[in-house]
Amino acid sequence: MKLADFGFIEGINEIIAVTRNEDGSLNTAPIGIIVEDCNSTLARARLFRSHTRENVKRDKVMYANVIWDAEIFALASFQDLEQDYFESLEPPVLKNALSWCKFRAMLRGAYADLELVDGKVLRKDVRAVNRGFNAVIEALVHATRYVILKDENKKRELKERILYYYEIAKKCGRDKEKKAFEIILEKIH
Ligand SMILES: Cc1cc2nc3c(=O)[nH]c(=O)nc-3n(C[C@H](O)[C@H](O)[C@H](O)COP(=O)(O)O)c2cc1C
Repeated sequence: MKLADFGFIEGINEIIAVTRNEDGSLNTAPIGIIVEDCNSTLARARLFRSHTRENVKRDKVMYANVIWDAEIFALASFQDLEQDYFESLEPPVLKNALSWCKFRAMLRGAYADLELVDGKVLRKDVRAVNRGFNAVIEALVHATRYVILKDENKKRELKERILYYYEIAKKCGRDKEKKAFEIILEKIH
């Protein structure tokens, strides 16, 4: 078993991380899994202050869902996805996820060291590159910073970037990307 089996490549892999909150409910958030060797079982994630970080610290477990769904990325950026969004709760798997993985996770400074311990490929999806999808991911990275920043100048700068990506999503995206942007725009007005 190795990371590549579940769709991970060298570099940063954007997935939906699923962890358990203290009350047992599921927490979902996009997280970048940093992979140096996709033929290994070892990876890292930089975890800023978040519920995901707290849950990893307590449980030492993080699940990853590999999924190509712009709307799911947008929703998970700002809230925890309810049970209806999952096709399985144990292990936690979102509807339409291509694969899931379980990582043993140990916090070390700003990072979590991750070791792949289980996983499954559920679907194989043939798809072309879509700039609309990519634009949603780029905009979300800025939007998740926007909502926690206080500095008005920085916020203005991020908003401009998000609106730039919005134009791309309108031109190149499908319905999912447009719905994702509805969620993003609501957060930055
Ligand atoms: C594409 C993408 C990648 C992200 N990667 C990370 C990451 O690697 N580490 C991190 O701490 N936050 C990352 N974030 C931000 C978190 O998803 C965001 O702060 C989220 O609200 C945390 O939710 P939580 O408090 O429920 O854990 C990323 C956001 C996006 C949109």
